[in-house]
Amino acid sequence: MMIASVETETTAPVWPNQPTAAVRISNLTKRYNELIAVDNLSLTVPTGKMFGFLGPNGAGKSTTIGCLTGLIDPTSGKIELLNQEFNTNSIALKHRIGVMPEGLGLFDHLYAHEFLAFNARIYGLEESTIRNRVEELLTAMDLISATNKRLADFSTGMRKKVAFAASIIHRPDILFLDEPFESIDPAGVAMLKDWLRRFVSGGRTVFMTTHVLETVERLCDDVAIINHGKIAWRGDVSQLMVGGKLESSGEQFDTLEALFLHLVGERHGDLGWL
Ligand SMILES: Nc1ncnc2c1ncn2[C@@H]1O[C@H](COP(=O)(O)OP(=O)(O)OP(=O)(O)O)[C@@H](O)[C@H]1O
Ligand SMILES: [Mg+2]
Repeated sequence: MMIASVETETTAPVWPNQPTAAVRISNLTKRYNELIAVDNLSLTVPTGKMFGFLGPNGAGKSTTIGCLTGLIDPTSGKIELLNQEFNTNSIALKHRIGVMPEGLGLFDHLYAHEFLAFNARIYGLEESTIRNRVEELLTAMDLISATNKRLADFSTGMRKKVAFAASIIHRPDILFLDEPFESIDPAGVAMLKDWLRRFVSGGRTVFMTTHVLETVERLCDDVAIINHGKIAWRGDVSQLMVGGKLESSGEQFDTLEALFLHLVGERHGDLGWL
């Protein structure tokens, strides 16, 4: 039964005349009791994009990623990934996505190679492929010398690297990354950015959150800023690189930071005692 439903889901897109959207969100809402974390949000991200999902703390970014990856049940709305409707039971679609969630989702009692192999087996990779990819990933991430430590004893950045490796080991079509570079050393960040550039150049899609606007300006070619669970701005930041300006409500901004502060408001805390 399971195999039959998987085969049905992986057949041609339901809407063959539409260009493939990696992510199409229609009127997504997530409520936590009285709090509306994601508020009737609609958003489409085409395939092949490095998409940056920005917004202040508590804006609803991680909640949205949770809904898009089956980790959180939306209250209402529709999600399509790769032109197929997605819900928590979409097993075949889940095989085509990778996710590094905000909480990382590691199993602390495992060793890094065990955790990566476990993830790869869930996605049905062959044992020889798993062995090769686990070794390659751990070596590239400078974690091969830590194979005698359980994940509970890893440093913060090491844990982040393992979670990143787990999200890409099966070569997904869409990669969801929640703050992928936070805590990782500069050499590691440079390598991961290279990997992500190669990933999207092959036509696959990255959907990531970050608070580092410089990273967004250099890396992302498609951006949304959300605030209070709603889209506040949507655009292509790469226009900045050729001397263009970012526009919002008729006003123009030289940098993403200026636009971001305009949209979400600057913070001024006057700590007289400091
Ligand atoms: N499990 C939960 N129960 C209740 N409220 C929650 C829960 N998870 C998130 N929230 C609330 O939903 C809102 C959005 O949270 P979310 O984690 O999506 O924000 P975020 O944009 O990822 O923020 P950050 O940049 O700090 O990671 C916040 O007000 C948060 O307190
Ligand atoms: Mg978050």
